[in-house]
Amino acid sequence: MNNSMTLTVNGVQRRIALDDPRVTLLDLLRERLQLTGTKKGCDRGQCGACTVLVDGRRINSCLALAISHDGADILTIEGVACGDRLHPVQEAFLAHDGLQCGFCTPGQIMSAIGLLQEGRAGDDPERIREGMSGNLCRCGAYQGITEAVLEAQRAVHAANRKEVA
Ligand code: FES
Ligand code: FES
Repeated sequence: MNNSMTLTVNGVQRRIALDDPRVTLLDLLRERLQLTGTKKGCDRGQCGACTVLVDGRRINSCLALAISHDGADILTIEGVACGDRLHPVQEAFLAHDGLQCGFCTPGQIMSAIGLLQEGRAGDDPERIREGMSGNLCRCGAYQGITEAVLEAQRAVHAANRKEVA
């Protein structure tokens, strides 16, 4: 059985030979590719700490078999900033204290980016809370997280309006 696969991770194409076809995308990222920004919390799809974008959609990477995403485009927290320039969602998390210990933060940020891309965030805090409900924060930084996503949403809207004008 051929267990080699190709992934584009943060814009870089990687050819990977899998020792075990049962490896999850989360373990592949953390243990094979040393991309440890994506966190392992529950390892069973309940906390969202492992959220990454696969072909633009947010998923819990602990529940995804790596091999089933052969050829996919993966974005992890390591790939969202542009050099020294933070992503607007990262800036908003800093500005609104959307974190305390920081363990859940990479997953929160990836989930927020996914939510904005889905166009479902709007300007209603309740909708944002619902859209982010798969990402738990043991420190209870939810208020700052919601405010950060709201601000990021406004920043993305403003940028889009400028592009159209
Ligand atoms: S580690 Fe994947 S959902 Fe908790
Ligand atoms: S900031 Fe500590 S778990 Fe969310």
